[in-house]
Amino acid sequence: MKTKLLSALLSAAMVATLLVGCGGSSSTPASGSASSSSDGGKIGISMPTQSLERWNRDGSYLDQQFKSAGFETVLTYSDNDSGRQVNDIQNMLADGVDLLIISAIDGEALNTAMNEAAEAGVPVIAYDRLIMNDAVSYYVSFDNYTVGKLQGQFIEKTLDLSNAGDKVYNLEITAGDPADNNAGYFYNGAMDVLNPYIEAGTLNVVSGQTDFDTVATNQWSTDTALERAQNVLSSYYADGTQLDVWLCSNDSTALGVAQAVTSDYAGSNSVLITGQDGDEANLKNIVDGIQTMTVYKNVSNESIVTLALAKAIMAGETIDESLIPSFGIDCAYDVESYETSAGNKCPSFLLVPSVITKDNLQELVDTGLYTMGDDGYLSAAQ
Ligand code: GAL
Repeated sequence: MKTKLLSALLSAAMVATLLVGCGGSSSTPASGSASSSSDGGKIGISMPTQSLERWNRDGSYLDQQFKSAGFETVLTYSDNDSGRQVNDIQNMLADGVDLLIISAIDGEALNTAMNEAAEAGVPVIAYDRLIMNDAVSYYVSFDNYTVGKLQGQFIEKTLDLSNAGDKVYNLEITAGDPADNNAGYFYNGAMDVLNPYIEAGTLNVVSGQTDFDTVATNQWSTDTALERAQNVLSSYYADGTQLDVWLCSNDSTALGVAQAVTSDYAGSNSVLITGQDGDEANLKNIVDGIQTMTVYKNVSNESIVTLALAKAIMAGETIDESLIPSFGIDCAYDVESYETSAGNKCPSFLLVPSVITKDNLQELVDTGLYTMGDDGYLSAAQ
């Protein structure tokens, strides 16, 4: 019964809303005939990999949220293999999903699947990472530039860079996966804060390795970050040169860098290391003073916003900032910052990230998503 209703809602009248998306793709109308055994419809959830902690949480939150709201779900992880992700999405379309939620492994490599989604009239929510294809209807993420800016500002404030005078701090940089559209935003957000200090000589990148391509880390791999950090330490710091800061775009890379600093750094000072996500191993390192901060993204909230948006899309509601109060989550509606192709803006709902250090770990416990053991270490609740 409700499936029929959904079919009706997916009729021509709402196709404009559904497919206006990023750049008003010229897709064919939704048939509304997607079969589903559940009342709410069928949702395809395509996640990149289980090898990074957060995506396990994202996948399970999304799955739970949609199931409890009466949807049937198909959840896949594509093992960081873009070809496999295309396949997984094609299978979801063949399975008759009514809406797709996709976190891309490579934002440029999903065209085949995206074009098929557009042809089938299936709306696509790009989840956390943007996809470079105009079949994307909406984007749900955190403010990615702000993530990097918070890392840069943390370094600026902790070292009191604006009052450093003649003091010079040595800095190294590790960025994310070049295939992930977010990685450049994180890097730029941080570097926009730090570059003036590099230019003034207050921050000195001893290795000279500053440009994104040189410091990027394929697939956000801990091992790759570890290996490069070991090389940098042995090439530039083995003579006792002091390392003060290592800017890391996220926690998986920070884990590799922290390991290298622990085992291969000749100095005895504690090195300021940044991160992002709030992975358990990194929160432990923060308690132990091995990592200094992480930029926390509440991915449970990200899944709640995604569910609310998906429901609004499927109900043919107007999608704009008027939806935000119903989310009950701090979030901005942004129609300027993200493009799926040159000039084609993608309407985005951007949640707010926050800085976590050893002094405010309790804030994570207060979300109800973590518990703190007697040893002071945090573990994910559930
Ligand atoms: C990004 C994501 C980050 C981090 C990283 C590594 O796209 O926004 O939160 O998880 O990928 O997976």
